[in-house]
Amino acid sequence: MDARFSGLSADDDLSALVSEAARAANAHNTQPWGVDCQGDELVLRRDRTRTLGASDPRGRDTMLSFGAFVESLLICAASAGVGLRFEASTGGDAETDEVGRFSRHPEGYQTTFSSADVRGRRVWRGRWRDGAPPPDVLTAAAAEAERAGFRLVSMPTRDARPFLIRANRWFFGDAAIVAELHRWTRLSPRHPDYGEDGLNDAMLVLSKVERAGLRMLISPRVFRALRGVGLPGLLARMSASATQGSGTVLGVVSPTEAPQELAAGRLLTRLWLGFQRHGLYVHPQSAPLDCPETRAMLEERWQIARDEQLVAWFRVGIPASDPAARVASPRRSGG
Ligand SMILES: Cc1cc2nc3c(=O)[nH]c(=O)nc-3n(C[C@H](O)[C@H](O)[C@H](O)COP(=O)(O)O)c2cc1C
Repeated sequence: MDARFSGLSADDDLSALVSEAARAANAHNTQPWGVDCQGDELVLRRDRTRTLGASDPRGRDTMLSFGAFVESLLICAASAGVGLRFEASTGGDAETDEVGRFSRHPEGYQTTFSSADVRGRRVWRGRWRDGAPPPDVLTAAAAEAERAGFRLVSMPTRDARPFLIRANRWFFGDAAIVAELHRWTRLSPRHPDYGEDGLNDAMLVLSKVERAGLRMLISPRVFRALRGVGLPGLLARMSASATQGSGTVLGVVSPTEAPQELAAGRLLTRLWLGFQRHGLYVHPQSAPLDCPETRAMLEERWQIARDEQLVAWFRVGIPASDPAARVASPRRSGG
């Protein structure tokens, strides 16, 4: 039986739904969740062996990833005619790492999305065609955010470039962050976890030469030796494609000082699935929010109030080639 879903064997339909929902977007493809069965309920837990440290210092991306998983499971359940509802744990339970519980509910989750949408969703890191999301699509996204208690802010990708370039240099200058990237990249098909999790060369759109170069440059020994002689700048230049091209950057603003990150992760999933129905794909980017300098600049540009917090940033645009033609990112099979 799959180790992630201990106790679910008696309820194969739920076990299958949990596997489908694991296609949810999640930071570094760590898949930081574990699900087990307690009586009639499914308990969602944080898997501490799979949570990010330096790259997610406040745990924001982990909570967003849980939110993405929750929304994906509710959608897949609704699609299969299984009524489920989710209740988040209050305060977080440090001992059990419980994030929340799914329970059966006679009324199914109300959603316009299906498990096919969840299966087809993917992040886009390839080249972009010229053009921005149509205004009516952005207006609908803003309304969706508002219904969930958030607000959306935006800027054209060309305006976002300087933020991204600065944030990438900061990201690649931090030894602990680069060590974590090294831990979660699978830059050779021979990596033992290549088909399980993490960020592989196909997802990062790297050629064979690029993947070999990156693998060497972010290895702790080489990084330590070359950090002081321009390696962070070189690595940032190697990821320049993430800063180039057309489209729009959207930010999600949470209304309270204690940000509602799980709910924001659920919202992100609805927004991303909605965009995908219009042929628009997203690239979430955490560094501009984590880098203190760009975060402060963004708070000024987007006029984030004292009692608000920026909880997510992602690009949205039109891919230059068909994303469905690319192999989907891996998910662990457990066992
Ligand atoms: C909260 C969150 C933060 C993310 N941050 C980044 C990021 O900074 N850069 C990036 O390239 N992808 C980012 N991603 C995308 C994930 O790497 C991606 O969802 C994961 O690798 C699985 O791939 P898939 O979404 O295509 O299935 C983020 C995703 C989430 C949910």
